[in-house]
Amino acid sequence: MQDILQQLEDKRSAARLGGGERRVASQHAKGKLSARERIEVLLDEGTFEEWDMFVEHRCTDFGMQDNKIPGDGVVTGYGMINGRLVFVFSQDFTVFGGALSEAHAEKICKIMDQAMKVGAPVIGLNDSGGARIQEGVASLGGYADIFQKNVLASGVIPQISMVMGPCAGGAVYSPAMTDFIFMVKDTSYMFVTGPEVVKTVTHEEVTAEELGGSITHTTVSGVADRAFENDVEALLMLRRLYNYLPLNNRDTPPLRDSGDPKDRIDLSLNTLVPENPNKPYDMKELILKVVDDADFLEIQPEYAKNIIVGFARMAGQSIGIVANQPMVLAGCLDIKSSIKAARFVRFCDAFNIPVITFVDVPGFMPGTSQEYGGIIKHGAKLLYAYAECTVPKITVITRKAYGGAYDVMSSKHLRGDVNFAWPNAEIAVMGAKGAVEIIFREDKGDPQKLSAREAEYKTRFANPFVAGARGFIDDVILPEETRKRICRSLMMLKHKKLENPWRKHGNIPL
Ligand code: HXC
Repeated sequence: MQDILQQLEDKRSAARLGGGERRVASQHAKGKLSARERIEVLLDEGTFEEWDMFVEHRCTDFGMQDNKIPGDGVVTGYGMINGRLVFVFSQDFTVFGGALSEAHAEKICKIMDQAMKVGAPVIGLNDSGGARIQEGVASLGGYADIFQKNVLASGVIPQISMVMGPCAGGAVYSPAMTDFIFMVKDTSYMFVTGPEVVKTVTHEEVTAEELGGSITHTTVSGVADRAFENDVEALLMLRRLYNYLPLNNRDTPPLRDSGDPKDRIDLSLNTLVPENPNKPYDMKELILKVVDDADFLEIQPEYAKNIIVGFARMAGQSIGIVANQPMVLAGCLDIKSSIKAARFVRFCDAFNIPVITFVDVPGFMPGTSQEYGGIIKHGAKLLYAYAECTVPKITVITRKAYGGAYDVMSSKHLRGDVNFAWPNAEIAVMGAKGAVEIIFREDKGDPQKLSAREAEYKTRFANPFVAGARGFIDDVILPEETRKRICRSLMMLKHKKLENPWRKHGNIPL
């Protein structure tokens, strides 16, 4: 018996050692934690239950039969984040560069299957040189098995990817199909083809960092949601994100009452919007002032900054916030912002998180680059997302709600549950100047007449009462009371039930 126990301990020690001390030291020298250290930071202390520690690859080519490391380059299992169940896999770069073998893929698939059975999220910590070259198509098959499971799990359990090292080639498509991607600055990168191939094919010279580093993906491509300074910061933020999410699509997000009074008023909101409608103001100030404890976890803060999306709590309840940002492009909707917000709204809808929308939008962005880029199709994504969304939807128009963008931004017409406007709101087809230039074209040469027409248009339309008279706005509220009114609406909507007609799936304009 003693021998067997010793054997077990030896095997465990070998697995825990991964690729060996030298490789772990080299991982540390790059500023990266090891696969196991990452799990320790991510999960509540002492909660990790490891599976498949003794799994080995079955490859016999290129001398691989003599080169086996228990665990085969990925640590898998489950544990807790703030007392809530989560499944996790953490690729070990010290073992064959974290490259994915058939056995490595099977370990990931196993925890994904179990997560689906019990209804709990999966977090993937990616640090891998891609397909295990020695295994060829067996490895590619392993990737495809993971992709298939990612798709079946989409909208059923939250899936979060943390890219903490290389993630190249087809390997990028698993994170791409998960709900959120976090990256670590300087040590992680994602690309379909690396700098060498790029140079050969397109003759562009680009570094790995420029091509697919965290800054590129959080500011230019929009592939990743957040970039963090180091592994520890990234993992702690992941824990924070987790707190807003339900375990699965039939669960409700956890309630955490912070004690911030639901009826707290904020007088400074009455003067947030400048008198001059062309002057910007910071929509984030409004968000921070209305949510519990000014605590807001922004998603994609550095990408398409003309729209803000992220998670917060009101009356302790998780909410998703979508808000136009007048500080950037006057808050116009363009291709990138439409896609960013559409994806966020769909996530909230899939996982029972109410959507609060703050509107100050002068319309869709004009121009050839937008039209040629397909703003029609991409803008339609946001429209589609809001229209199919059945979770509680509360909208506050703080200033402009012009044209098609008024309809899109969670209007009453798209089954907005509660639609408020601040007293200074302007709900119209377009701004006064543009409107009179079209409908009073005959007065074009007469600036005096035009400005009289403009004043008339403003009085007639630049207010929330025309929409209010039709019931498109449920109430015109004092800015200072915004938090109170939203909290009450959330309480009223707590048991909202709304179902879309049965279908195999809709056909969102992709
Ligand atoms: C097997 C691999 C490997 C791989 C790295 N290693 N990548 N082993 N298959 N794909 C091994 C190395 O041999 C080395 O082993 C150890 O991991 C560390 O690698 P280094 O090269 O020393 O590390 P570093 O200098 O940091 O470079 C890391 C790297 C580089 C940039 C990831 O290793 C690399 O370019 N690897 C190949 C990447 C690649 O082309 N992958 C296939 C992509 S296509 P020792 O024993 O020396 O420590 C793909 C298709 C997916 O993935 C298909 C989905 C549909």
